[in-house]
Amino acid sequence: MAGIWLIGAYGAVSTTTLTGIAAIKAGAAPRVQSGIVTESPECDPIRSKFPIEDINLGGSEIRFLDKNAYQASEIIWEENYHFQRKYLEAAKNELSKLKATKGTAINGGPGVEAIGELKTLEDDGLTLKEISKKLMKDFESFKNKNGEVCVMNTSSTEPHIKLTEEHQTLDGFEGLIDGNKTEKVTASMLNAYAALKQKIPYGNFTPSHGASFPALRELALKSKMPYYGDDGKTGETLMKTTLAPMFKMRNLKILGWAGFNILGDLDGVTLSKDANKASKIESKDKAISSSIGYSPFSITEIKYFPPLVDHKVAWDYISYRGFLGQKMALTFTWLGIDSILAAPVVIDIARSLMFAKSRGESGPIHELAFFFKHPIDDIIGNTFIQHDIYMKWVNEGTKINVEEMQAKIIQK
Ligand SMILES: NC(=O)c1ccc[n+]([C@@H]2O[C@H](COP(=O)([O-])OP(=O)(O)OC[C@H]3O[C@@H](n4cnc5c(N)ncnc54)[C@H](O)[C@@H]3O)[C@@H](O)[C@H]2O)c1
Repeated sequence: MAGIWLIGAYGAVSTTTLTGIAAIKAGAAPRVQSGIVTESPECDPIRSKFPIEDINLGGSEIRFLDKNAYQASEIIWEENYHFQRKYLEAAKNELSKLKATKGTAINGGPGVEAIGELKTLEDDGLTLKEISKKLMKDFESFKNKNGEVCVMNTSSTEPHIKLTEEHQTLDGFEGLIDGNKTEKVTASMLNAYAALKQKIPYGNFTPSHGASFPALRELALKSKMPYYGDDGKTGETLMKTTLAPMFKMRNLKILGWAGFNILGDLDGVTLSKDANKASKIESKDKAISSSIGYSPFSITEIKYFPPLVDHKVAWDYISYRGFLGQKMALTFTWLGIDSILAAPVVIDIARSLMFAKSRGESGPIHELAFFFKHPIDDIIGNTFIQHDIYMKWVNEGTKINVEEMQAKIIQK
């Protein structure tokens, strides 16, 4: 048996992931060419080791805590109509039995404040130490029930806090927890810490801190646990890191790239706040330079547009220079449904991390860069190279040399 624990279980991405897995298990939803990379024949080692049928579900939340996962999924579905209703019905049996546990939203920032009434562990008067113990207990019982499991952060994007000396070592970070220094610890840090402490792989689908700071790298290596992030690559950035290499391969110079995104769901509310938006824009911007080795003039804008709900529109204008110095341009419009794009990637990351653990790998699994906008340690952004790296890792166990990869980015 295996399991995926979703932090932010009742959000758009998570409820779509839960519905998809349960509907596939019920035999009602397609899995072939469904966006799940690990369901392709090329990923047979993962697919056969962690079949979807064996994956059980769990998660934590800070809202709708009186609801079960089916009821929460229904609320999100009624706002979005983002898939056919029959899949929700197919998932009903499994999701009705699943209830999210209470999480922490410490330093979740304006994004979670926008949700309205929250129910969090800190509101129950718990200290950081008590919160981390409670999270560990929830993860432990999920692991005891399901065997190989993975914790995935699919919760609202947090603003980045300033990292200090204490974040550089595990001792320092644990000192912050013991000393209840609430201003220096975020919810995503605490969840990542609790997962790795319980010897559970951790994936960060968001641009929040998660495990991406030295203290938790130390913990992952010490507890021999794999982890990776940050921020799932699903839409406009997937296009950027796929198209930009095409210009590079044809030796065309990209002069500027302007991208305007509008979206209307809760993630849109979160990202309309400057502090939360900054971490997302940073990961979107880095994607181009890490694909082609230089930074063209860039504009990245994200705006909240309620009528779209979970649908996302991105307009991109790419100015480039070719033969005889002539300037030309490419424009595209991306019409995506955020959570439909995201859910299969969440499944892929979780399965890949469980697979890494089963092979005895630990620390950041750079071979998973393919799935992320801002891969830890700035691994190359070029989708084609990332895909090649991932497939060789899955099928032959080939590990990449991180320094070599970083050097490739610098080459013009
Ligand atoms: N294509 C995509 O949709 C995509 C791509 C990359 C990254 N992401 C990231 O995935 C995350 C989820 O996106 P979404 O559209 O589902 O957002 P959402 O706002 O619909 O859902 C987030 C959920 O997390 C819950 N939550 C917030 N903080 C929490 C915490 N500390 N503990 C437990 N629950 C918490 C909220 O109550 C909410 O239900 C966002 O950070 C987003 O930036 C999404």
